[in-house]
Amino acid sequence: MFMKNDFFGKDVISVNDYSREDLELLFSRTNEMKKLVEERGGDERLKRKMMAALFYEPSSRTFSSFISAMQRLGGGIIPLNGMTNTSVAKGETLEDTARVFSAYVDVLVIRHSQAGSLATAAKYCSKPIINAGEGATGEHPTQAFIDLFTIKKIFGRIEGLHFLIIGDLAHYRPTNSLMMALTNFKNITLTLATPKQVPIQDYVRKFLKVSKISFSETSEFDKLLPEVDVLYVTRVKKEYMSESLYREIQGSYIVNNSLVKKMKKKSLIMHCLPRIDEIDKEVDDDPRSVYFRDQLQNGLYVRMALLDLVLNKD
Ligand code: CP
Repeated sequence: MFMKNDFFGKDVISVNDYSREDLELLFSRTNEMKKLVEERGGDERLKRKMMAALFYEPSSRTFSSFISAMQRLGGGIIPLNGMTNTSVAKGETLEDTARVFSAYVDVLVIRHSQAGSLATAAKYCSKPIINAGEGATGEHPTQAFIDLFTIKKIFGRIEGLHFLIIGDLAHYRPTNSLMMALTNFKNITLTLATPKQVPIQDYVRKFLKVSKISFSETSEFDKLLPEVDVLYVTRVKKEYMSESLYREIQGSYIVNNSLVKKMKKKSLIMHCLPRIDEIDKEVDDDPRSVYFRDQLQNGLYVRMALLDLVLNKD
C-alpha cells in the first residue's frame, strides 16, 4: 500500500504533528531498517547527504544512535556532543548557529536546554531540524517513536493497552511525547503515578483532556500492577531541580522483583535510560524488561528510518 511521506523535508519537533498514518509509515520503514542492518549492516541511500548533531546537553543514546544511523546509510556527519568548543561559547544564539550549520548539512539533529527553542530556530534554518530532546518540560519525539515501535512490535498492536507511567513526570520529555502520541490510538488506558511534587506538565494534561483519552493521576500504583500491559519507569531528573527537592523524591518509587511479580506474564517494563536506581538491577533479566534489549536497539532502526524519510522523498 502506498503511504504518503509527510516527513520529507520537514522539521521533526513535536509528536503532535503526526497522524496515525504517519506513525505507521515510520514503523514500516523501521522494519525495513531492522532487516537491512541484520542482513547487510546498512546501505548507501544517504550517500552525499550530511547531518549535523548539535547537542547542547549530555547524551549517550540519542547522539550515538543518530550518528550510527546516518553512517549506516552512507551519510556524513558533523558530530558535536557538547557545544563548548564552538562559537556558542562566544555567545552565538541557537538561531544563528542553526542558520550557519544549514549551509553545510542537509539535516540538523539538535538537543537543547530550552523548551520551545527549536521551533524558533527552525524559522531561521533552511534545512529540517530534528528535536533530539528539548528542555526540562518539552518533548523528545524520537524517543516516543522508538517506544511506540517497540510496543507494537512485541504486542502486535498499541490499541487497547493499559499504560502505567511512574516517577518524575514534571521533567520528563520522552513521556510528554509518548503520552501525547498515544492519543492516536483507540481504547488506551493511561495511569500516571508521580510523587505529588512532580506531576505532569499542564500543557500535557490539557492535551490529554481535549483528546478524550482515558487517563488518571495518582501517587499509588502497586494495586494496578496486575492490570497493566506497559509499566514505563522514569528517572528523577536531578539536573532540573533543587538539591532539596531531589532528596525529597529520589527513591520514592523503586521497581524491584517483588513488584514486577504482580504484573501479567505478557507485559512490558520500559525505561528510556539512563537508569539510576528507580529499577533495581534484579529486574534487568526479567523477560518483560526491554530497556536494555528491544527498546534500546530499536533506537538505531527508528532513527535510520526517520533520517531516510526526512531526506528521501520515496
Ligand atoms: N534516552 C535518551 O534520550 O538517552 P540519552 O540522554 O543518553 O540520549
